[in-house]
Amino acid sequence: MTDRDADKRLAAIAAVQEIRDDMLVGLGTGSTAAHAIAALAARRLRIETVATSQASAALAESLGLKVLDFAGVSRVDIGIDGVDAIDARLRAVKGAGGAMLREKVVADAADRMIVIADGSKRAERLGGVALPVEILPFARSAVIARLAHLFERVVERPGYRTDNGNIVVDGHGWDDGGLEALVAGLSTLPGVVGHGLFLHEIDTAYIADNGVVTRLERGAKPR
Ligand code: A5P
Repeated sequence: MTDRDADKRLAAIAAVQEIRDDMLVGLGTGSTAAHAIAALAARRLRIETVATSQASAALAESLGLKVLDFAGVSRVDIGIDGVDAIDARLRAVKGAGGAMLREKVVADAADRMIVIADGSKRAERLGGVALPVEILPFARSAVIARLAHLFERVVERPGYRTDNGNIVVDGHGWDDGGLEALVAGLSTLPGVVGHGLFLHEIDTAYIADNGVVTRLERGAKPR
């Protein structure tokens, strides 16, 4: 296990201590979320889960967790997920693994959204990482042309389809000086079905740096 992977695992183990019996837990997607799923399964709590991807559902079920179909769920107690970049105000970019749309739906349904990360995910500014955008295949060319006004470079993931059957492009070189305006622009562009900017969804972050886990709360100082 690399140091970075060990930190992901530490952050995950710390976060799952917040889970209690009888909770419905939202399971994120990616390598850090996979550590959380394993740590949660190891606790053998009386819980139910929903998953933000087929991969996470399969992992959770293989470890003995009960996974409900989210289509029948309207609220979740706590969601636990990874991030690609997160700033001090707990605004984040997600979606390197392509699951950002389901991740956002589950985060929105969650009473509390916790993210977990190793220290490399801390960012002073979010614009330094690619911003994933999920696009209805029918609208591919029209949306990519419009996105060219928002990003210096738009790169489609070759041959990739999300669990929702859609394509994903990564927007590189974007202005992070007006995040709300960017979210509004993306959200109102017909054919865009999701994107990886999470400005208001995250309540708590557990970030591990070289074996030390810091818990950050929205609007609060580290403790
Ligand atoms: C999945 O689509 C993403 O949002 C992940 O949560 C994010 O990319 C973090 O992934 P890792 O934990 O693998 O870095």
